[in-house]
Amino acid sequence: MSAQPSPDTTIPLVDLRAAHAEVAAEIQAGFEDVIAHTAFIKGETVAAFEREYEAFTGVAHCVAVANGTDAVELSVRAAGIPAGSEVVMPANTFVATAEAVVRAGARPTFADVDPDQLLLDPRSLKGALTPETSAVLPVHLFGQLAPMAAIAEVATQQECVIIEDAAQAHGAAQDGRPAGAFGLLAGVSFYPGKNLGAYGDAGAVLTESAEHARQVRLLGDHGTERRYEHLTIGFNSRMDAFQAVVLRAKLRRLAAANEARRQAASRYSSLLADVPSVILPQTAPGNEHVWHLYVLRVPRRDHVLRSLQEDGIQAAIHYPVPVHLQPAFRYLGYGPGDFPVAEAAAGQLLSLPLYPQITEEQQVRVADAVRRALG
Ligand SMILES: Cc1ncc(COP(=O)(O)O)c(C=O)c1O
Repeated sequence: MSAQPSPDTTIPLVDLRAAHAEVAAEIQAGFEDVIAHTAFIKGETVAAFEREYEAFTGVAHCVAVANGTDAVELSVRAAGIPAGSEVVMPANTFVATAEAVVRAGARPTFADVDPDQLLLDPRSLKGALTPETSAVLPVHLFGQLAPMAAIAEVATQQECVIIEDAAQAHGAAQDGRPAGAFGLLAGVSFYPGKNLGAYGDAGAVLTESAEHARQVRLLGDHGTERRYEHLTIGFNSRMDAFQAVVLRAKLRRLAAANEARRQAASRYSSLLADVPSVILPQTAPGNEHVWHLYVLRVPRRDHVLRSLQEDGIQAAIHYPVPVHLQPAFRYLGYGPGDFPVAEAAAGQLLSLPLYPQITEEQQVRVADAVRRALG
């Protein structure tokens, strides 16, 4: 029996402690400043973050909201997607993409993913469109963009709006164009483990359209632009100033952090290149990948995962059950066999620890453990 690893040799999936150490002093000062000014919700710090994130991404408008799920919901609402109409998304995504669509009053429908990058497959998308479809919602999963030119070609044939789920793609681009600049609107998440992570929940909507940005702002703040004048029925989805302090500090380091992730991903790919049964993640041509997750496909996945955990390596699965097979979405009428690529992948996916501060020594240990588990 292998000895239980001591806690300090555990390799986490994401090392938020190491990330905090780099910004601790700045955040401490920023928090004190927020408390001194007692401007806790929205305010100048949040506005400053919005302007800085616009400059970083190159997308014209950033509207800070409470979390990434709200960001997708607000995007669907602001796009004016009719109640009950269909919004197509990939079957392999985090459940929030579909939840947000339901909450916005529309009906999620699904398409399969391509076998190479596991991103929305334009051919499957074409087959998923019906006269009821009003929007396409590609997800830039794991840190790289879905094939937007081919998706746009299919979507425009039926005058479908494109809304991006860019929750996992901070700083990613395709053919030099940033995530968030392809759709009418895009939702991003600053959940703590994301490439740009807050210290609580936070999110944002990106759009090139001033009118749609205004609409998101209205909806996310009780339908008001002027105190006690409520132009529309909205809800409460605002970012707090503490999260903006964290995000501003981390945004200054995001380009370097993404570069460190790219180097770590490339190191994993070299270390694992000679393991025959493993399918390594690939970057699609034209994509600037930001490696939110490094996701392998392996045989006997559950055994490999258990074995890594016994070795003190916190690998994970993104995601074990495609959304169309989740109990919550049974009412949509999908079943096993509807999306064979996503379903097969769900049984093989394995996310390895990846974060900007991961060391070569840690990565060698992870790669050796994968090799041993498969041996
Ligand atoms: C692809 C995707 N969409 C949406 C979300 C929802 O974001 P949040 O957790 O901030 O609500 C997440 C992250 O959790 C995500 O990974």
